[in-house]
Amino acid sequence: MGDLGVRSVKSYLKDLIKKHQVDFVIAQAENVDNGKGVSVLKYLELKNLGINFFTGGNWTLFNPEIYSYLNDPNEPIIRPANYPSNYQGLEYKYLNTKFGQVLIISLLGKIVGRDLKIDFKNPLKTADDILEKEKNTPKIATIVNFHGDYSSEKVVIGHYLDGRVTAVIGDHWHVPSNDARILFNKTAHISDVGMNGSLNSSLGVKLDIAIDRWLNGSKLKNELIKEDDLQFNAVLIDFNIKTGLANSIKQIRLTS
Ligand SMILES: [Fe+2]
Repeated sequence: MGDLGVRSVKSYLKDLIKKHQVDFVIAQAENVDNGKGVSVLKYLELKNLGINFFTGGNWTLFNPEIYSYLNDPNEPIIRPANYPSNYQGLEYKYLNTKFGQVLIISLLGKIVGRDLKIDFKNPLKTADDILEKEKNTPKIATIVNFHGDYSSEKVVIGHYLDGRVTAVIGDHWHVPSNDARILFNKTAHISDVGMNGSLNSSLGVKLDIAIDRWLNGSKLKNELIKEDDLQFNAVLIDFNIKTGLANSIKQIRLTS
């Protein structure tokens, strides 16, 4: 989330990669450009900080300068797969690792108050279609990112895909949920992985603005907090490259 999100990644990621011998890192970047979308500059900066692939959310298509990257199968960034097909960006992509390819899919759930008029495809059916289309492509893992508001959707999609993908990782709340676990058929799941960025804010936005809007109905625009303590939220997943199923999922939450 915003510049403090980048600062949080800068502060923590390299040490974590080393400490846990992480093979690849996947992150959501839809809010990195001052809360709205992802600029090319921020995309390149985050890649340099050790992130190997970027998933998509409801703000991914906000900044048109990222469209050519979303359309290029070799650039590791996607938008949610269930936008209508005439939208910019490929539906899914593969990340190449030294062990083999990883299929990565983002899906959008119902988002409160935004994009309600867009005729999104059903995320469960979209996942089914992609998995069917890609069933014969060699891969060591399939990672699904579910960008949703409704806790029920976030839980249900984990069970729906259980045993068919390596992990279903929820986000968009910016608040981590405490339910990371391996589901019955060995898919790693968490309802929401949380955000990276400011600790004492309304999901990155200055508190006085958020409170004034709520308390007094003011029309103040969101303004991201520029200086604050940091939080870093992530999950660490260990999986079997032969079966593509998960052995463990561990939540990481650091603050400073
Ligand atoms: Fe979002």
